[in-house]
Amino acid sequence: MAVTSRMRHVIESQQFSRALLEELFARAEEIKREPHRFMGRLAGQVMAALFYEPSTRTRLSFEAAMLRLGGQTMGTDNAREFSSAAKGETLEDTIRIVSGYADVIVVRHSEEGAARRAAAVSDVPIINAGDGPGQHPTQALLDLYTIRAELAKIDGVRVAMVGDLANGRTVRSLTYLLSKFKDIKLWFVAPPQVSMRDDLKAHLDEHNVPYTETQDLDAVLPEVDVVYMTRIQKERFTDPAVYDAVKGIYRIDKNAMGRMRKYGVLMHPLPRVDEISPEVDDDPRSAYFRQARNGLHIRMALLDRLLS
Ligand code: CP
Repeated sequence: MAVTSRMRHVIESQQFSRALLEELFARAEEIKREPHRFMGRLAGQVMAALFYEPSTRTRLSFEAAMLRLGGQTMGTDNAREFSSAAKGETLEDTIRIVSGYADVIVVRHSEEGAARRAAAVSDVPIINAGDGPGQHPTQALLDLYTIRAELAKIDGVRVAMVGDLANGRTVRSLTYLLSKFKDIKLWFVAPPQVSMRDDLKAHLDEHNVPYTETQDLDAVLPEVDVVYMTRIQKERFTDPAVYDAVKGIYRIDKNAMGRMRKYGVLMHPLPRVDEISPEVDDDPRSAYFRQARNGLHIRMALLDRLLS
């Protein structure tokens, strides 16, 4: 399911070539600069959003992207309860039906692999908006776009991924994208209970991307260009004792910011709980709100690429 010149489904970050990433980033910049040129591009097309898990940014930025391109949207929040899934309908049957009504379907689901299952039966493009602890490829697109915007480069960046790396679909997708660039160095900062999974480390070994695993955030902060914080995801833990043992383990406050590089960048896919203190929101290095806003332009570029 490689994404090359003809893009169909968007399931995982590995699909994106470096050339396609550059093309999407250039289109997102064009959209940001001259939005009027893209108005009406997707007139007459319909996007369905099926969200089986909660969302603020992904759901609303996809809807705003489609509307700003002149298309229309429909869908269901809390699809587990408010779609016929509540009556026992399978994801596959729901997708077969909705693909007869829409030109593209954006799916968020709690099960890893759900987007791939949806793509297997869909007549229209499926976009993975997060499949459990699997991947969140469009978040990775906006994350990488943000790194490029903040640092004016991607090659050579040094990135620390911090927090719930075992369950973090955003760190997984971003790591796959970063592995396509040159001279990347990664730090995985997590307690052993939620350390980075072996499949991703094997991918990095295969692509000769050096990484360091550590629990010591303080030691890593001065070493990196980007600190990518993540939430410890309570909803992914089956054992509350394990969650209690790791919750609140890392927190960026003014003191921690003082250890970061002068031109470092603090990112977070959001929502945050307590891992970034609001006291650092006004620090120019805090990029997480700019990062979320970039999601609109990247998703506009992606929808335009898929549908126009
Ligand atoms: N970053 C992200 O996926 O946010 P939402 O869960 O609000 O969509």
